[in-house]
This record gives sequence, C-alpha cells and structure tokens, in this order.
Amino acid sequence: MKILGIETSCDETACSVVENGTRVLAESVASSQIMHAATGGIIPENAAREQIKAILPVISRCVDTKFLKEEIDAIAVTIGPGLIGSLLVGVETAKVLSYIYNKPIIPVNHLVGHIYSNFILEEYQNGRIITYKKNPPSFPIVAMIVSGGHTELAYMTGHPSLKKSTIQVLGGTRDDAAGEAFDKTARILGLPYPGGVSISKASFKFRRNNPGINYKLFPRPMINENNYDFSFSGLKTAVLNEIKKSKISLSNSTIGRLAAEIEEAITDVLVKKALMAIEEFKPKSFLLSGGVSANLRLREKFGENFEKHALWTALHVPVPKFCTDNASFIATAAYYNRTYVDWRNVKALPQLGIR
Ligand code: KG4
Ligand code: ZN
Repeated sequence: MKILGIETSCDETACSVVENGTRVLAESVASSQIMHAATGGIIPENAAREQIKAILPVISRCVDTKFLKEEIDAIAVTIGPGLIGSLLVGVETAKVLSYIYNKPIIPVNHLVGHIYSNFILEEYQNGRIITYKKNPPSFPIVAMIVSGGHTELAYMTGHPSLKKSTIQVLGGTRDDAAGEAFDKTARILGLPYPGGVSISKASFKFRRNNPGINYKLFPRPMINENNYDFSFSGLKTAVLNEIKKSKISLSNSTIGRLAAEIEEAITDVLVKKALMAIEEFKPKSFLLSGGVSANLRLREKFGENFEKHALWTALHVPVPKFCTDNASFIATAAYYNRTYVDWRNVKALPQLGIR
C-alpha cells in the first residue's frame, strides 16, 4: 500500500510517498527557515505565504499525475496541531487531490506523526534501498516528543484507533516547550534561528575544546518532582540574569560555554523524566522524537543511560532527517491507523492535542 503524505503544520512544506508504513519511496521538503532567521522567529502569516508558494512544486517533485492516479492508495495529511494558515494549505491541497483523483484521506495528528518517525525502516534513494533498522518498535511504548511547540510524554498500548483509547498522556510542558527554550535562549545569545541547531553547534565546539567541565550553572526545573511535567520558561530569565550579573561580554567562548550549560540543563530534565516513566511502565520500547531529538548531546545521554538503567527497554531514536518536520512520518502514521475520511469532513485543527 502506497500513501502520499502532506505536511504543512509550521515552516516546512513536505511531501512523501511511503510504502506499507515502512519504506520511504520519495520525499521532498522545502523550508522557509532562512526567512524566519531574518526575523528572529516565525511570523505565522509569512510562513503560510511560503507554504502556498512551495506546496505544488514540493508535491510534483515526489509524484507525477500518472503515479498519483495509478499507484497511490490514500492521501495522508497533517490536520493539527500547528499554525492555522500553514495547516490550511496542506489540508485544502489534500482535499483537492482527493476529489480529483478519487483517493481517500487519512487525517494525521502531527504529534502522533512525530512518534511514528521511529517506525520508518527503509528509504529508497538513488535506485538503492537504505536500511535504517530491521524491526519496528513493539508495544507497550513510552514515547517522548520534544519539538518547537511540544514536550510530551505518552504511554501507548497499541496503534492509535478511534475505537479504543491506546494513548495515555503522562505529562507535558507547563509553559515553553524544549525546542522553544532552545530557540529563545539562543536569541538571547545572539545565535540564529532555529536556536536548537545553533546552540547544539556552539556547545559541541566548546565541549571539544574544553573537556572535563561540569555544567551546573542553570536550574533544572521540576527535575525531582514526582510527575511527568516540564517547565522551561525560567531558563530564559536564568540566562539573562547570568549575563547581567557577571557583566560578561558575549565572546565566542562565552557563548559556547553558555550554550553548553543551556543544552545540559534541558537535556538533564528530559532524560530524568523519561527514565522515571520507563521505570514505572517498563515498556518494550522507548521512542524519542521531534526536532530536539536531533540534538547530539541528548542522543548521547539517552544512549549512556539506557546502557546503565533501562536494559529491558529498546531505545528508538529517528535518523536526524526524520526528527524535524517531514511528510514521511505523516504517511507512516497514516498507514498504522487507516482511518479514512471523506474530503468534505477533513478540517484543520490548530489546537489538536495528542489524543
Ligand atoms: O519537530 P520540529 O521540526 O517542529 C515542530 O513540530 O515544532 O522541531 C523544531 C524545533 C526547533 O525548536 C529547533 O530549535 C529544534 O527543534 N531543534 C533542535 C535541534 N534541531 C532542531 N534542538 C536542539 N538540538 C538540535 N540539534
Ligand atoms: Zn513537528
């Protein structure tokens, strides 16, 4: 079964074809990130305008009319959560394709999509199949989504279904998401958007040149609380206070040190709460996902801690290109919950929660 996926929830315009929820046959992603770097963050209307420009070229890089007509079985589209203007571009395009080519639509929750980046096993590239992993994750699953807009921990007993409840939200952020904390603190340090990528780079360079430092400058909010919630908004103030208090000028080396401190504070909390959930639920698989899961230090910490503390659980981390927004995970998620909806009933839902 071949599903055409469309993703336009924020600043990426993406299209993919995925076979049987495991093999990516074609994919195309356009990003308006460079434009948002100039404004220091996303202006929703600008993002939506870029979506409109990009959507048709992106789709036509993945499929031609003949392939769409003859080979595609269904169209998967992100319906939320996300920016309403951006979401509408993908949703309305999917509806038009569904109507013209008489293909059913499978609406996909973007957050669930992120989780399913861990179910992609192979990709067809330049006439060859690249295998990323042999087996998909098995249930029960503890999933952590760490993106620009969300930080969530969930327990899953099966694939999402309309008939029975298979996803239990364990906790989430009470204020800023992990990615948002990276983006906002990067801005304070004068680093470009997306901040997670900039902080990660600055931190990597600083650590390499200054081994053996113990990073304990910033608070780890809620780390010892007996719940699965997070709070990252205080980190901005802590970074601002540190710059004011020590009257430090932002040299490259200071930026590098503060970047490493920020990265260490955020990743410590994420790993601790994930391990708590693994200890309580003893899942067969733990799935990390979302843009922040591309962070090298976070991946390294999870690797080390799983070796020490979570031997009964398999750690799944997507390959970096499937961490940030793309349509391959949307088509993959759609395959596993084949809930077909008539195009007339598909709506963009910007505030959609994980359930
Ligand atoms: O999942 P995503 O592409 O979009 C949303 O659904 O939000 O995540 C984007 C977020 C941004 O906040 C970005 O700064 C962060 O992921 N990010 C990173 C890294 N790469 C992207 N954060 C930390 N380290 C990275 N390497
Ligand atoms: Zn996302």
